[in-house]
This record gives sequence, C-alpha cells and structure tokens, in this order.
Amino acid sequence: MPDDALLAIDDLCVAYDGSNALNGVSLRIGRGELICVVGANGAGKTSLIRSIAGIVPSSGGSVRLDGVDISRRPPWDICEMGIAQVAEGRQIFGALSVEDNLLIGGSLKRARHDRANTLDSVYHLFGRLRERRDQLAGTLSGGEQQMLAIGRAIMSKPEIVMFDEPSIGLSPALTDVMFGVVKSLNEQGITVLLVEQNVAKSLALSSRGYVLENGSVVLHGSSRDLLENPDVQRAYLGL
Ligand SMILES: Nc1ncnc2c1ncn2[C@@H]1O[C@H](COP(=O)(O)OP(=O)(O)O)[C@@H](O)[C@H]1O
Ligand SMILES: [Mg+2]
Repeated sequence: MPDDALLAIDDLCVAYDGSNALNGVSLRIGRGELICVVGANGAGKTSLIRSIAGIVPSSGGSVRLDGVDISRRPPWDICEMGIAQVAEGRQIFGALSVEDNLLIGGSLKRARHDRANTLDSVYHLFGRLRERRDQLAGTLSGGEQQMLAIGRAIMSKPEIVMFDEPSIGLSPALTDVMFGVVKSLNEQGITVLLVEQNVAKSLALSSRGYVLENGSVVLHGSSRDLLENPDVQRAYLGL
C-alpha cells in the first residue's frame, strides 16, 4: 500500500486502566479499498474502530485521514470529516422512528444539503426501512436494525465506513445479505474497513486483510494469500 493512503494508522495504542487493548497497530487503507481486520473475541477490533472514531482516546501512535492527523479530534469532527461507523450491537435510537434515526445520520454539515436525496437512496437500498419508516426503531428485528444502522451511516455521506461485526447475531442467510450490502457500498465508491470474526466470509469479500491477535497485527496481506495461509486456516478456518 503506497504512503498516500486515505487512512493511515501508525503504532496505534489503546489502553483501559493501564492494560493494553492495542499495542502499536499500523494499517493502511487506500481510497476505494475494502479491507478487513479479523480476529477472535477480545483481539481489539472494537477498540481499533472506536479509537479511529475518536470515541476511545489513543495512548500512542497516530491516525491520519488524507495526511491530516485526526487522532486528537472529537468524534463529531471525525464524522464531519467523512468517517462513519456501523457500531457493534447497532446502537440505534430505539425510542425514535426509523426515519428520525436516518435523519439524525444526515444532520452533519457535510450531508445536510442533500439529505432528502440521500434518504431516498437509503429507502431504495432497503425497501423494508421505507415500509417501516414511522415505526419505532426498537421494534425492528435484528436484521432490520442492522440495515438501519447501515442506512444511518450512509446518510452522513461518508468517505469511509467502518463496520464492526455486521454479521453478529444474524442468520447465515441474513449474513450473506449484509455482506452483499457492504460489497455494493464499496462498489459505489465508499472505502470500507470491515472488522469481523467471520474470517472466511470477510476475506472472501475484501482485497486485503489484517489478522489481529491480543492487540497486535500478526499477519497482513492480500486476502487470497491469507485464505491460503496454513496458520490462518488452522486458527480461523477450522481446516
Ligand atoms: N471499556 C473497556 N474497559 C476495559 N477493558 C476493555 C473495554 N473495552 C474493551 N476492553 C478490553 O480490551 C480488549 C479488546 O477488546 P475489544 O476491542 O472489544 O475486542 P474485540 O472487539 O476484538 O472483541 C479485551 O481484553 C477487552 O476486555
Ligand atoms: Mg468487538
């Protein structure tokens, strides 16, 4: 990956109460890429996403977007700069309607001027959300809530979307639908950072991948090479 990456992360460290969740993680995402970070429960995947998003402070290292260091910026600034996340466990507003959840996503300065059009395109992508636009978000099924979380991210007109385990809690069939949506967003030009425990499916979808273990990147490369790597096969693919 060349050094003019859209997102460049160097030696990123995150600690909670003195214990390290990330120990110097470096990765690159080029404009338009779909890359994945895979790892077991507790590897540090959510900490990575939350740190990039400015929600969890880093204790060292840097995150640069288009060459600009964003590692000390507050979360709303980072959203405004074009980094959206589809959080683990969705984190939608259950007591608000589906449409209000989407409109909140579109209330950023970068997205406001085009909010009606973007809303239309989200409803086009997820017909189910259009049907349920007036329903309280908390009453949606797990799969529909995941669609809503993705729709809300799209509403912010992001340059990069970070997905934190979008397949968690979904049936195999819905998982495939969700991965299809991730792929099609990327094909529309959105850069994607996909974080997953579903190693086989994430590597099949992405062009490159990073394997995270105990807060460190232990392997990275083209997704094809990682799928054929005996250590990856043994540890993550059950082969
Ligand atoms: N808010 C927190 N406070 C303390 N420890 C945390 C917190 N969040 C995560 N951790 C710890 O940091 C490590 C990485 O967690 P996490 O980033 O959630 O991993 P993953 O998303 O890969 O499951 C784990 O050991 C976890 O227990
Ligand atoms: Mg997690």
